[in-house]
Amino acid sequence: MTTPQVLMAQPVVESIKKNLILRCQKLLQKGIKPTMSVVLVGNNPASLAYIKYKKKMCEEVGGVFHLHQLPDTISQEDFLSEIKKLNEDPIINGIIIQLPVSEKLKSLNVYELIKPSKDIDGFHPDNTKKLYFGSIEANLLLPCTPKGIISLLNFYQIPIQQQNILVIGRSLIVGKPLSMLLSNLNATVTLAHSHTKNLNELTKQADIVISAIGKPGYLGSTYFSDNQASTVIDVGISYVENKIMGDVDFENVKSKVTAITPVPGGVGPMTVVSLVENLIIATEIQNKEKL
Ligand code: GUN
Repeated sequence: MTTPQVLMAQPVVESIKKNLILRCQKLLQKGIKPTMSVVLVGNNPASLAYIKYKKKMCEEVGGVFHLHQLPDTISQEDFLSEIKKLNEDPIINGIIIQLPVSEKLKSLNVYELIKPSKDIDGFHPDNTKKLYFGSIEANLLLPCTPKGIISLLNFYQIPIQQQNILVIGRSLIVGKPLSMLLSNLNATVTLAHSHTKNLNELTKQADIVISAIGKPGYLGSTYFSDNQASTVIDVGISYVENKIMGDVDFENVKSKVTAITPVPGGVGPMTVVSLVENLIIATEIQNKEKL
């Protein structure tokens, strides 16, 4: 039995916010207001809750937040014309399309619709290809959850280089970009998924286990050995009887590992602060000749 370090997002968020507030003030002094537009189709309650949090963080840093809410009956043609207007609007610096979108829009490749320079989700192929090519420049528009996980590990001085890191889940939003980012940072990465054999052996061998599968409590105590010198990062957010639960059975795993993120209060806030960080980066790049 050990007492693990619980890797809370809050001190990390505070430290990143301090830096973003200064950078935002510098932009405001030049008459530039970093402005984010979030496109929401319909009124999914989980999406509305995330958006509220994004608005709060954006405004706390000094940015301007616009919610662009569209009916879930909107046609593909009208939706594309709304996105085009935002892409061309000079006062908007960053745009995200909140996922999931409505059934009618599902056949669109939403990842490719936002102008790459305003793509603060970091999902556009022009942005993700930089990860594929191995870039580790500081001003990349990286997908927010992977970026937030790196910031969290760095803040708590958990090494990445030369570590064996197991990423579970190969989604476009988390697993795939995260595995590339970690490999660019010289980690040895294993990308596991629903067809992986013997997952409970891989979890016991990894220095860092990062789970992004969205199955509440899936990684129970049998996935970890006693006194395992590992860090566990839980990206999962599931709602079970109105309670938020991660992929890891926190209560039964925490005594076995060295460090672990809580849910809520771990990766979630890191994703949101990374989005605001991307807004500031995008605004700085768009205005580089004025700064
Ligand atoms: N829905 C769930 N996660 C995300 C995210 O990171 N970005 C967007 N746009 N929508 C999401």
